[in-house]
Amino acid sequence: MVLAPMAGITNAPFRVLCREQGAGLFVCEMITTRALVERNPKTFRMIRFAESEQPRSIQLYGVDPATVGRAVRMIADEDLADHIDLNFGCPVPKVTRRGGGSALPYKRRLLRRILREAVAGAGPLPVTMKMRMGIDDDHLTYLDAGRIAVEEGVAAIALHARTAKQHYGGVADWDAIARLKEAVPEIPVLGNGDIWCADDALRMVARTGCDGVVVGRGCLGRPWLFRDLGNAFNGIADRVRPTLGEVAAVMARHAEGLTHCFDQERYAVADFRKHVGWYLKGFAVGGELRRELATAESLDGLRAGLARLDHDQPWPANTDTPRGKSGERGKVQLPDGWLDDPWDSVVPEDAESDISGG
Ligand SMILES: Cc1cc2nc3c(=O)[nH]c(=O)nc-3n(C[C@H](O)[C@H](O)[C@H](O)COP(=O)(O)O)c2cc1C
Repeated sequence: MVLAPMAGITNAPFRVLCREQGAGLFVCEMITTRALVERNPKTFRMIRFAESEQPRSIQLYGVDPATVGRAVRMIADEDLADHIDLNFGCPVPKVTRRGGGSALPYKRRLLRRILREAVAGAGPLPVTMKMRMGIDDDHLTYLDAGRIAVEEGVAAIALHARTAKQHYGGVADWDAIARLKEAVPEIPVLGNGDIWCADDALRMVARTGCDGVVVGRGCLGRPWLFRDLGNAFNGIADRVRPTLGEVAAVMARHAEGLTHCFDQERYAVADFRKHVGWYLKGFAVGGELRRELATAESLDGLRAGLARLDHDQPWPANTDTPRGKSGERGKVQLPDGWLDDPWDSVVPEDAESDISGG
């Protein structure tokens, strides 16, 4: 099981909470290769791992084969991680407009060059890739990309079974995961998209034959989902159903971890605000207290609010439903003429962003 890389979410404090729940890969936020090779201080802070984190997984975003190669070599030479994942799934307009993320696999040769550099530079470290099905239904790329990945020595592929156009809307097309699994029998295929509870993961594996699952939004405010996944895959029926008091204790640890990580309490508590609604989803918490928790400005303020929650309240029913981002985009933003030639391998200009974390 894999914690999906999520910009702004899967930093060390959150990964530690997830990792305590069972063995797997817990991938960091997206790091841009340019920022890494330029030794950007913020990016270096983002690739700090907790002592307990083993193996350490870094996700890289890059479009220039040379820069990707340098970044990967740096990770290997300086022992910055144990596993490198390459991001070819980002659908954000500022990324696809420059030919990066989910736009890139359309350029088959460029994709091949990037993968070749990455695998060569990584030495013994496994390189995996994460991608979407394509740009839209008329420009699917995942089967070609899968074959190229196998030929270039990629260790495993994760497929988020949506197109870039779908963004986070609609329903993930798990049949595409099955088709990819058939197309690349040589390496593991990890299925991603719309796993909201452990039984969804079992259903995905049964339906697609995938070798593992990647879970993103389903674990927002619910790091113990990884315990459920481990139980499910081991045939154990138990599911974690924390009381509100137990959830509050995890919330406090999460916010404390962020404070330690960012070294700035005010910033950390503000960053934690986005998690509050996810943790409290489905619980009966009055609007006023909910607001207080979501606007706390200090750890003490947050703790005071958490203390006022009804700690005996049981885990609410019907919470295995979508959370986090949703919705489709009208049109995928692409560089001019991007779709004219799938084989040209010119590196798109200005595509090497220097901002990590999406
Ligand atoms: C807030 C957020 C940030 C994300 N950031 C990244 C990222 O940096 N790299 C990446 O490959 N995918 C990113 N994703 C996509 C997820 O990794 C995952 O593919 C997607 O959410 C679908 O899986 P899910 O249905 O389990 O959420 C992000 C998703 C969310 C919701």
